[in-house]
Amino acid sequence: MTPAEAPVWREQLKRAIRENGRDAHNRYLQFATVGLDGKPRVRMVVFRGFSPSEISFFIITDARSEKVKELAHCPDVEVGWYFTHTREQFRLQCSSEIHSHSADSDLHRDALWKALSDSAKAQFFWPKPGLLSGEGQSLEITAHPPETFVVIECRPQRVDYLLLAKTQRRMVSDLTASGWTEVSVNP
Ligand SMILES: Cc1cc2nc3c(=O)[nH]c(=O)nc-3n(C[C@H](O)[C@H](O)[C@H](O)COP(=O)(O)O)c2cc1C
Repeated sequence: MTPAEAPVWREQLKRAIRENGRDAHNRYLQFATVGLDGKPRVRMVVFRGFSPSEISFFIITDARSEKVKELAHCPDVEVGWYFTHTREQFRLQCSSEIHSHSADSDLHRDALWKALSDSAKAQFFWPKPGLLSGEGQSLEITAHPPETFVVIECRPQRVDYLLLAKTQRRMVSDLTASGWTEVSVNP
């Protein structure tokens, strides 16, 4: 187990995203939080890319959604990602940080908003998610990112990688004070 600067898992993940590009769902991941009642919650979200330093990655969501309330309470998340073509599973335990509306502009938030299609942007002006159908008010449409648009930055702390090949392979990586350590374990 040697501390390493650039973790092996990250290159594996980047390669998996690339090699599974033919699958429309290669950027869908399961995003698990701890509910306010202490029970697990999981839902699908879209991977929106790595930060420039690649030590974190982004997803976007509505500030009014349950997951945002849950993250205020417990910022620990786990992401599950399966690539069907290469048959690889990544389980990423992450700390998270919310980038929400503020007086200072936020480069990540601004860039991710600009990259959205008009139909994706429109959802952030819909009535509050989770209310009974027909209840709630639509918001006034603006060109700049509305307060409802938040970015969740996820910073992996532990990654459990499983390859479902003829010879299965499993590797667990941990972020320590001196960098990433990687160890092979029985699948
Ligand atoms: C394929 C797919 C992709 C989705 N992508 C996102 C996403 O990127 N961000 C998001 O907030 N919700 C996304 N959703 C909706 C979530 O799964 C979930 O229903 C919604 O965010 C409300 O979750 P919450 O009430 O637990 O916060 C997606 C759903 C599907 C089926």
